[in-house]
Amino acid sequence: MVGQREARRGPGDAVKLAIVGAGRMGGAVLDGALRSGVLSVAELGVYHPDAVRRLELAEHYGVTALDDEAVHHAERVLLAVKPQSFEAVAPLVAQRRGSYLSIMAGVTAATIAARVGSGRVVRAMPNLGARVGASATAITWGPETPDDDRAFARSLFGAIGTVYELPEHLFDAFTGLSGSGPAFAAVVAESLADGGVRVGFSRDVARDLARQVLLATARLLEEQSPAELKDEVASAGGTAIAGLRALERHRLRYALIDAIEAASARASELATINGSRR
Ligand SMILES: NC(=O)c1ccc[n+]([C@@H]2O[C@H](COP(=O)([O-])OP(=O)(O)OC[C@H]3O[C@@H](n4cnc5c(N)ncnc54)[C@H](OP(=O)(O)O)[C@@H]3O)[C@@H](O)[C@H]2O)c1
Repeated sequence: MVGQREARRGPGDAVKLAIVGAGRMGGAVLDGALRSGVLSVAELGVYHPDAVRRLELAEHYGVTALDDEAVHHAERVLLAVKPQSFEAVAPLVAQRRGSYLSIMAGVTAATIAARVGSGRVVRAMPNLGARVGASATAITWGPETPDDDRAFARSLFGAIGTVYELPEHLFDAFTGLSGSGPAFAAVVAESLADGGVRVGFSRDVARDLARQVLLATARLLEEQSPAELKDEVASAGGTAIAGLRALERHRLRYALIDAIEAASARASELATINGSRR
């Protein structure tokens, strides 16, 4: 049975990737890697400090449950615990020969490198889109990260969506736009639906129509700029330009720009609290 594959893997049969923190995001990365064929079930393992819990996780994903020694021998470790759990996890994963990938928000590559004693660290920042294979994921690395670690990171995070190689100083800004953005877009969708209810649709129909607007817009934006799309819809003296005027009156643009700035500033604050920039 899959769930009984508890794991005393030594150097000879090490997994290619040990997931330390197979929660929402770690699980989404694991799912993406399996679905896309980047890694097979035999190449993946999950770690949890509680032996029963790690067997449950292993059974759930159909991969190997890893004990401390198996994590030590893994080729790569994905750090996907909450940032505040990193201090507890660091001794487990430190001083290995393999490399590291981290999706912990606000913990810099340099902080991780210092705690684990290795410069082979890739830092990544996925977003909720990972759940549906549509994450925008920023990745960055230090000068000591070899080419094969970079290539592995590109393909692992490519399995859950689109990868953007960015300098680390833009990670807080990325968190503000791409990390928090789905919440802002959801409010836009909810408000469009409210508008639909206001002009006579049932809630279900209005929500469906609003979702369809965002879906179609996202697809069209793959082919044209937002300004081109807006101009195409807004014909002379028509309905869209009347609505756009109302949006300008209520300063929607200002509100969204301000939201991204506030979210980015909060990401910087949290990074400081997490200890990366004291
Ligand atoms: N969710 C997002 O949209 C998102 C986006 C970008 C980045 N991130 C980053 O991804 C990381 C995980 O976030 P999440 O939302 O996936 O959180 P989550 O669902 O709570 O996952 C964290 C997992 O780590 C496990 N865990 C706790 N202590 C551990 C330990 N010592 N060793 C191994 N596993 C341990 C937890 O198990 P228990 O529940 O049993 O404690 C849980 O399954 C965070 O650092 C976050 O900043 C998340």
